[in-house]
Formats: sequence, structure tokens, C-alpha cells
Amino acid sequence: MRSPQRVPRADLPDRVTIWEVGPRDGLQNEAGTVPVGVKAEFLARLADAGLTTIEATSFVHPKWVPQLADAEELLTTAERRPGLRYPVLVPNERGLDRALALGVRDIAIFGSATETFASRNLNRTVDESLAMFAPVVARARDAGLDVRAYVSMCFGDPWEGDVPIEQVVSVGTRLLGLGCSQLSLGDTIGVGTPGHVRALLAAFADAGVGAERLAVHFHDTYGQALVNTLAALECGITTIDASAGGLGGCPYAKNATGNLATEDLVWMLDGLGIETGVDLGRLVETSVWMAGHLGRPSPSRVVQALAGT
Ligand code: HMG
Ligand code: MG
Repeated sequence: MRSPQRVPRADLPDRVTIWEVGPRDGLQNEAGTVPVGVKAEFLARLADAGLTTIEATSFVHPKWVPQLADAEELLTTAERRPGLRYPVLVPNERGLDRALALGVRDIAIFGSATETFASRNLNRTVDESLAMFAPVVARARDAGLDVRAYVSMCFGDPWEGDVPIEQVVSVGTRLLGLGCSQLSLGDTIGVGTPGHVRALLAAFADAGVGAERLAVHFHDTYGQALVNTLAALECGITTIDASAGGLGGCPYAKNATGNLATEDLVWMLDGLGIETGVDLGRLVETSVWMAGHLGRPSPSRVVQALAGT
């Protein structure tokens, strides 16, 4: 199988952690139910490809995201391996109780930089959602869990339009202030551009939040996800969210399509000589296999180029 010529750049990190979100962000939007056995095999195949942080599912209300209503069954079925993390989304204490009952060790809360998306996604104002998250984070930390926070609509909102950078920094620092270890900056509808990425990361740095506490989460709606990732790498970001095969979208955000495809990311990182631990060939096989189950080809350019080679 073809691989890129390695030409490292001294100004970029040596190693990057890929936070694989395909099973959660990728599948949450699928209309047809994906059988739990297929989901469990997806997790195992992603782990076989070398991914070590795989966001598995969500403990949200099953009526809000029916595709992930099998969260309990999936986590009971999923193969556990040393060094492999299966973070899950948890919006509230009810979700935390469900996750704790299954021995989950890593959770993520998910806030919004805008009022409209907070209301549509969480049925809460921004302030109310922070109040909902506070006891989740406190209890999770008391139980020794790691808690990540997402902030959505960092680069634009389908209902509100432009989102001021200071508004994103304000909500993001409040989420971190609850006691979260990492903040993932979501471009939920994929409208960001590289200068905007640099400006947002600089504003976080000015607010005392360095690149080591941040991750980036780009959707690829406008084809900007990879160039935005390079901008983030140039600013020192070393955790990047991506979705195998470019699966994804958010059921509560108009115009949200798939995440940055993990294969497209790994191709670029391999070329830059940046370690990820991921075997691109096995990952492509996995996305081709999953595309077969979903009944449509992967939108990832790298999957399309390498499939069957
Ligand atoms: P609500 O209707 O306001 O809930 O929804 P409530 O607190 O009023 O409770 C109503 C009923 O739901 C109660 O039952 C609760 O027990 C039950 P009743 O007493 O009436 O019988 N309930 C639950 N049941 C199971 N699990 C739970 C749960 N919570 C309440 N966790 C809620 C509020 C937050 C629950 C709802 O809005 C929700 O589930 N939202 C999730 C939406 C979602 O998952 N969106 C996609 C993920 S976010 C995303 O994709 C963006 C991201 O990728 C980053 C980016 O791209 O920007 C992360
Ligand atoms: Mg997302």
C-alpha cells in the first residue's frame, strides 16, 4: 500500500494523540440502526489499527440520540485491553450514574459557546448547562475518572452566525474551571479557517490556557479540517479528534457533516514524520468494512485512494 514520503518539520510536535470519535460522533447521526455487534467489532478493529483513545458512545437520553441507545450493551460487549481508553459522553448526573455502573473510567461533558445550540442540544441555557455539568465533574473526579470537556460552535453557529472569540474563551475557561483535564474545541459545522484557528488558540493562551490543555475537533463540511489541523499543530496542539472514514455529523446542528477523517489525518502526520501509533492500512480496511455496513462509500479522500490497493 502506498504511503507518503516522510519529510519532517522541526517546528511541529514529534507525537500526536488521535482521539478517535467515529463510534460516537460518527455513528450518532446514522439513521439506520447499526447492530451492537457491528459497533463492538468497529471498536476492536480501531484498537487493532493502533488507536488507543476511542470515544465509544454516549450516555444521553435515548430519545435524543436513538442510535446510541445501546450504550450499556455496547460497553458490556466491548473488548477491554490494557492501555485502551473508551471515553463516553455524559451530559448529566443520570448519564454519569449509567456510566459509573459500567465501570467507565473516562467521560466527556459537552457544552456550547452559543445559547441557541445549548438550547437545541441540551435543552438548557449556557448557564444552566454549566450548572448541570458541575456535579457531574465533581462526582466523576471524586470517583477517580478523567473528565474532558467539549465546547461546540467555536468557529460559527448555523443559527447565530459568527461567534466572537471572547465568547468561546469565556465558556471554555468556565468548563475547564469545573475541573476538566482537557478542553476540545469543536468546529461543529466545519466553517473555521486557519487564521481563525490561530487567533482562537492565541486567545486561549492569553487567558492562561496553553496548547497542552487543548484539543481540536474539526468537522470537514467546507473541506477545511486538515488545513485547520495543520494550523493547530503549528500552535503546539498535540491532541486531535478525528473519525475513521470521515463518518459523522451532529443530529442537533444543521449543516454538520463528518469529522476530519482519521485516515486523512494519519496520511498528513505520517508525511510529517509525526508519530501516532496508527497503522494506516488496517484503518483503511476498517473504514471500507464499515462503509459496507452503512451502505455508502467513505467520504475520506485517503480511504478512496487506498481502498483495494
Ligand atoms: P431533558 O429532556 O431536558 O432531560 O434533556 P431532563 O433532565 O428534563 O430529564 C427528562 C427525562 O429524561 C427524565 O426521565 C430523565 O431521567 C431522563 P423521567 O423522569 O421523565 O422518566 N434522562 C435520561 N435518561 C437516560 N440518560 C440520561 C438522561 N438524562 C435525562 N443521560 C438531556 C436533557 C441533556 C438529557 C438531553 O438534552 C440530551 O440527551 N441531549 C444529548 C444531545 C446529544 O447527545 N447531542 C450530540 C452530542 S454533542 C456533539 O455531537 C458535539 C461534539 O461532537 C463537539 C462538536 O462537534 O462541536 C461533542
Ligand atoms: Mg462533533
